[in-house]
Amino acid sequence: MSGPPARSFVVDGSVGSGTLGGPDGWASLRALDAGALDPALRARLAEEWSRDALFEHASVGSFDRFSLHLLAVAAPPSLIEDAHQAAIDEILHARLCFALASAYAGEPLGPGRLPLEGDVLGRLDLPSIAAAAVTEGCVGETLASLEAATALERATVPAVREALQQIADDEARHAELAWRFVRWALDLGDPDARVAVERAFREALDAQRPPLPEEDPLVEGLAAHGRLSLRQKRLSFDEGLVEVVAPAARALLG
Ligand SMILES: [Fe+2]
Ligand SMILES: [Fe+2]
Repeated sequence: MSGPPARSFVVDGSVGSGTLGGPDGWASLRALDAGALDPALRARLAEEWSRDALFEHASVGSFDRFSLHLLAVAAPPSLIEDAHQAAIDEILHARLCFALASAYAGEPLGPGRLPLEGDVLGRLDLPSIAAAAVTEGCVGETLASLEAATALERATVPAVREALQQIADDEARHAELAWRFVRWALDLGDPDARVAVERAFREALDAQRPPLPEEDPLVEGLAAHGRLSLRQKRLSFDEGLVEVVAPAARALLG
């Protein structure tokens, strides 16, 4: 699994995102004219950018929840401020992705309601909150930022490159925020928090992954429009875990 492209919004153990709904201003940014594209490629691009747009939309909620988690553990104001800014960044990411999805689909697209049933806030003790930040932030956002940077390297369409540049820069900052929070949480000296953080990293790093998928026949066309194939995503994901997340986790845990 390559994982979702943005900060995951995990509720009751599964990654949440909504379904498509009315545009209501989400598709208003200028994107591109996709009229001359091959219909099969265009349909794939509409589908994939829509999926990312829904994950970006869910990421707004993930940072809203993270802000509440920070308040619940009496975190310092700089972290709370950055978490709120990150939620606002995710609104822009969703708008950028919906604008691209709409251009490829040939109709304005936007999100439906985000499902918020279930235990949305999750457990509010420090170990649980620190572990959630490891999973969603230190691992999820670090890998998302690397994926966006890889997609940017290969993209050639200007509107796509602009969107990916914004997303890659912001996601790198969001990942850094998660690492900063977990550092702060560990420095409080709660042994249970340390155990929970170590376990969350171990689960992410040791998870069994399915075999590497075959290369996608549309890989070149997708790449020009900012989309990595499943195989490329998986390679970026595996490399990010080994080269970035594992050493950073070792440095963090000492
Ligand atoms: Fe994002
Ligand atoms: Fe993010």
